[in-house]
This record gives sequence, C-alpha cells and structure tokens, in this order.
Amino acid sequence: MGKYRLDMNDLDISQDGIILEIGSEHGGGSTEKLYDYAEKNDIVFFTVDFDSQIINRLPKNIEGYNCTGQDFLRALFPAMDLKISFVYLDNFDYEFPEIKGKPFVKRQKKRYDILGVKMSNDASEDCHLEQAELCHLYRTNPFYIMMDDTYQRELDSEYEGKGAKVIPWALENGYTITESEKFGCNPWDGYVLLRHGTCKHESCLKKATEGALCSYHHYGPMTGENDG
Ligand SMILES: C[S@@+](CC[C@H](N)C(=O)[O-])C[C@H]1O[C@@H](n2cnc3c(N)ncnc32)[C@H](O)[C@@H]1O
Repeated sequence: MGKYRLDMNDLDISQDGIILEIGSEHGGGSTEKLYDYAEKNDIVFFTVDFDSQIINRLPKNIEGYNCTGQDFLRALFPAMDLKISFVYLDNFDYEFPEIKGKPFVKRQKKRYDILGVKMSNDASEDCHLEQAELCHLYRTNPFYIMMDDTYQRELDSEYEGKGAKVIPWALENGYTITESEKFGCNPWDGYVLLRHGTCKHESCLKKATEGALCSYHHYGPMTGENDG
C-alpha cells in the first residue's frame, strides 16, 4: 500500500455498491483496513488476488477470490448483479527504476513466472487500465478509484507506475483527481485517488462552490497511518 491513509470517512462512499480490492494483503494492511471500513458502514467487501498463497492466508471472515482482477470482473462479477462504489487497485507489481534488479523484485518475478505471468511494467499498466475500465461499467454515483503506486513526475508532469495509463484515461472520462501524493515522494509511496460523479459531502460542496472542485493534494510525507 502506498502512503494513502485509507481514512475513507471523509469520502462519500455509496452504500449502493461494494468495496473491491484487487491485490490483497502483503503486510501493508490494506485488506484489513478496507474490510473494517466496509463492515462498519454495512458495505460488502471483496478482495481478489491471483496468487493462491495470498488468498489462503486471509482471515476466514474476508471474502477473497483467487483469480486475476480482469477475470473476476469479466467472468464472475457480472452474474452477481452488484455495483462498485470504491475500488483499490494495487496489483500487478511494477519495477520502478529505483528498485530495478533488487533481490525482492527478482523474487517477485520468479513468483509471477510460477503463476504463468511475465512481469513487466507495460503489462502492469495495461492490466490496471483494463481493470479500471471494467470497474467503470459497474460504478455507483459517486465512484472512487484508488490507484496505488502511481506518481506524477515533476520533469514532464506525466504519471508513472501502475496507474500510468489509468490516470490519462480517467481524466478523459469524467474523473477528478481528489487527492494525490506528488512531486518528491518515493514512487512506490505515490497514489492517486480519482472520483467519478457527484460528491454530496458538505465540505466538498462548499469547496466546489468556492471553485476548488473538491480537489486537494498532499505534497509532503503524511503522518499517522502510513504503512508504506
Ligand atoms: C503490491 S501487492 C498488494 C499489496 C496489498 N494491497 C497491501 O497493501 O498489502 C500486489 C499483489 O497483486 C497480485 N496480483 C498481480 N497481478 C494480479 C492480477 N492481474 N490480478 C489480481 N492480483 C494480481 C500479486 O499476487 C500480489 O499479491
């Protein structure tokens, strides 16, 4: 999980849809945090990971699916007749230049090989884009995409990381960047929170009428619930 604090209480997450995580718990605490929020707010939560070792170690009360996010959204989700309010995309791993060739990346590549997938940054970007597009079909109003391991380069303002293709697609398709870590953060600490539709939160409405369009950014390290 990036630096996103997953304090979702200040978002306007609809109870008409589910919370979905693609890329389950790896010690970052994401699955538990999303599950806790969903449980408290009477929202269904699913997590999806293509590695059975990850799904098998989830606590029994968490509903995990062992397949790729794309397969889940294409083959299983349509029959469930559900919508999605919030999706946390943090799966197909990305080799940022700063971590190229590190032992843990070599281990990731070996694991992907065993699971029959060739790890590459291009494939990661495509995979997250396909998932975002599929989730978009089932969106509630409003709908959030939390795109992890994604940051904006200071040099040319382009996005790099897992969401490199998701962000331009989202901006062309009516999404607003609600929050992001940018400029100067570690690439793997970066995240971009996108919203589609109308936010009914008082504070957002106030900002919107003031012309700020419910959009704000964190520029430095955040304190508190970050777990890298
Ligand atoms: C960075 S980890 C997830 C970290 C987790 N969100 C956390 O904060 O602890 C990435 C996970 O994505 C999974 N993965 C990779 N490609 C996938 C795909 N196409 N669909 C579903 N899971 C995938 C990997 O098995 C791995 O468990």
